[in-house]
Amino acid sequence: MAKYLVQRSEPLKGEVNISGSKNAVLPIMAGTLLTDEPCELSEVPALRDVYVMCDLLSDLGFEIEKNYEENKVKVIPGKSIKTETPYEHVNKMRASFLVMGPLLARKGKAKVHMPGGCSIGARPIELHLKGFQLLGAKITEEQGYIEATTDGLVGDSIYLDFPSVGATENIMMAGSLAKGVTVIENAAQEPEIVDLANFLNRMGAKIKGAGTDTIKIEGVEKLNGCKHSIIPDRIETGTFMVAAAMTKGEVLIKNAVPDHVKPIIAKLKECGAKVDITDEGIFVNGSENPLVATDIKTLPYPGFPTDMQSQFMAMLLKTEGESNVIETVFENRYMHVGELNRMGANIKTDGNKATIRGDKGLTGAEVIATDLRGGAALVLAGLVAEGTTEIGEIYHIERGYEKFVEKFRNIGATIIRVEN
Ligand code: EPU
Repeated sequence: MAKYLVQRSEPLKGEVNISGSKNAVLPIMAGTLLTDEPCELSEVPALRDVYVMCDLLSDLGFEIEKNYEENKVKVIPGKSIKTETPYEHVNKMRASFLVMGPLLARKGKAKVHMPGGCSIGARPIELHLKGFQLLGAKITEEQGYIEATTDGLVGDSIYLDFPSVGATENIMMAGSLAKGVTVIENAAQEPEIVDLANFLNRMGAKIKGAGTDTIKIEGVEKLNGCKHSIIPDRIETGTFMVAAAMTKGEVLIKNAVPDHVKPIIAKLKECGAKVDITDEGIFVNGSENPLVATDIKTLPYPGFPTDMQSQFMAMLLKTEGESNVIETVFENRYMHVGELNRMGANIKTDGNKATIRGDKGLTGAEVIATDLRGGAALVLAGLVAEGTTEIGEIYHIERGYEKFVEKFRNIGATIIRVEN
């Protein structure tokens, strides 16, 4: 099993180029199932979840032309498309469930293995299913599979009890080929939803309101292939912003969208880091002021992203004072806390609240990545800890970050990947 060895590093300095967004490309790849014409995607990040989605699409009968060096993937539909996804894929990646809406809309049938609970929480799917049912699908559950069938989806008004990202995406894709108008209320507003809507509209869909809490989808009979470039990854952006600030570095983050990381910019400034938006990118300077404690509360977009909670927590360990973090999106997203405490951190959790005593010296230790973002937090902590931090189970990190080690090394971090 491969590991990362991270050493206390000098302040990070230089430039980082942000890759395409993992959470935008996965639903968009699922969306290619809606057409019988090829789709060409660019700015596709070369990371494990994308490889899994490629495997899933080829199992369903698609031909995939991959050019990961140039971040391009072309999805070419085969003559016959399967409607059942093997357990193996849904087990590896929950986002596999996003093929359900497109398959149901295009083929009238989809059988997808029930995604299990995952490490960051139970992550149920009842909102996806409620949406499909309101559009006229019949849902049956047996032996761990969910099967949805329909003689033809018909648009309806769907109110989501929680603005679920995945449910909004699945329903938006299904509604694109439904008869009549589908309205999603209390929809998720994440930039990845807007990117998916732009992609679908390029295919000929008629979607309005993506990025607000009400999305209106006028169903069309057929969608065509198209070319689409994936938006930059706002969580990768945030991860490098935090890395720059906590190592007292000066890093220019290129190819990022400042509007997508507003809460991160605001909170970094509150902690005392300098953040400037220039024509070249986002410049983060942590060298001028000592960092001070702050509180964060994770919320659906445009609130502070849950996917940045653990990395921000790692930074709060280097601030003066006490900070509180409240996680409201997932019920079990503090698994990295135990690992950070093994490095000498003083973090106490009580339900969804974590209290961080800052300015504790950290010491390198043998730790494991418990999930994708928690793993990134350990890398960040390792950069400011005495000695060497040995991080195991890094496949979690490699699910969602492209060239993570290489990008960190380019800005002066002492990190290597070793095969055991
Ligand atoms: N939820 C329900 N019922 C549902 C769907 C969701 O109760 O039917 C709950 C979940 O259990 C969770 C909350 O709603 O507590 C948020 O879930 P959501 O559906 O919004 O998340 P997701 O679509 O499963 C995506 C990202 C996650 C990111 C969340 C929240 C992808 C592929 N994944 O997941 O990304 O944390 O939105 O922003 O887009 C990551 O990149 O590290 C990651 C976990």
